[in-house]
Amino acid sequence: MMRTRPLKVALLGCGVVGSEVARIMTTHADDLAARIGAPVELAGVAVRRPDKVREGIDPALVTTDATALVKRGDLDIVVEVIGGIEPARTLITTAFEHGASVVSANKALLAQDGAALHAAAEEHGKDLYYEAAVAGAIPLIRPLRESLAGDKVNRVLGIVNGTTNFILDKMDSTGAGYQEALDEATALGYAEADPTADVEGFDAAAKAAILAGIAFHTRVRLDDVHREGMTEVTAADFASAKEMGCTIKLLAICERAEDGASVTARVHPAMIPLSHPLASVRGAYNAVFVESDASGQLMFYGPGAGGSPTASAVLGDLVAVGRNRLGGTTGPGESAYAALPVSPMGEVVTRYHISLDVADKPGVLAQVATVFAEHGVSIDTVRQSGKDGEASLVVVTHRASDAALGGTVEALRKLDTVRGVASIMRVEGE
Ligand code: HSE
Repeated sequence: MMRTRPLKVALLGCGVVGSEVARIMTTHADDLAARIGAPVELAGVAVRRPDKVREGIDPALVTTDATALVKRGDLDIVVEVIGGIEPARTLITTAFEHGASVVSANKALLAQDGAALHAAAEEHGKDLYYEAAVAGAIPLIRPLRESLAGDKVNRVLGIVNGTTNFILDKMDSTGAGYQEALDEATALGYAEADPTADVEGFDAAAKAAILAGIAFHTRVRLDDVHREGMTEVTAADFASAKEMGCTIKLLAICERAEDGASVTARVHPAMIPLSHPLASVRGAYNAVFVESDASGQLMFYGPGAGGSPTASAVLGDLVAVGRNRLGGTTGPGESAYAALPVSPMGEVVTRYHISLDVADKPGVLAQVATVFAEHGVSIDTVRQSGKDGEASLVVVTHRASDAALGGTVEALRKLDTVRGVASIMRVEGE
């Protein structure tokens, strides 16, 4: 049955995502009302630049005073698409205090302060939904939080940053170097003028923290996520990957330890076999592979960024929160009961591809192999090529801990016959 009093929605931010949210709220108003059970009314829009013309938005709704907007007291839902830590954090908690539920797309804030925001929502009996914070339109938060709530997730492995996937895909398909591929990503509008958050892995690390927390029912903060960017990946790395039947992706990997007693979360470039479904994720697309006890392997794929896809996720949350509101209930809050320790990177176990420049003379291979053996790292394959007394040695290991591999590489660097360690890349997805 349709309720006539509309649900009042305030929009904090009206950029690429916010303007799409407002547009869809207007153009799909009847469908949204039918799905929720009450009409939704845009009650206010907080912006930084009030003079900008915003098509389809009544200028009377526009304000620069976001604080006054969230303090109105008659709002049902506040949609936060400003991003960043402050003022978003204060505005969200103020919204709860003044009776509104919140839909947010703010990965940085959720990764840093998710626990406190969930606590504030619970204290005030309100919803905090954030499907749009991870991988744009791709449903991930709700599947992990609700659909898989009866299963045991062991691993989440994904490409959660479109900009870096575009760059790496370009390098792979054209042989371009990092800078050339980045320049193209910038020219096409994928990479921002300052690409640091994407290429250094901060964006993906925030998403990994959110996914790991929900998947393992454990608090995982941004600081718990080991992060390496992809600026050092070279055309030579791609050539090596090809020789192994692999490509290179910037992966977010959240894993439960084999004994189930701890979890890890990390973001770094890695080789992945071409036969793995993530290897065929091209351009700026995102995809996330989830492995659970009962479900087996699931893959979620789609556009991970952009105004319209991100707005789709925001609108989905708006409908869910609207329904809860009408039903006088709230959806699932934070689930961190498992409280598993988050282990440091040294305890991660995986395979490695190491390229060494070495002297090509008797005994060098034996010396190198001894260093691996002394650190308990088992070698899977060795490939050598070279001329004029110098050689390139590519060693691929069996599974070993990151700490053991780190010790191996440190010792290798001390050998006179090892001229340099050209690259170290983890091998995932096998
Ligand atoms: N900059 C991100 C990306 C989108 O390239 O995927 C927002 O998280």
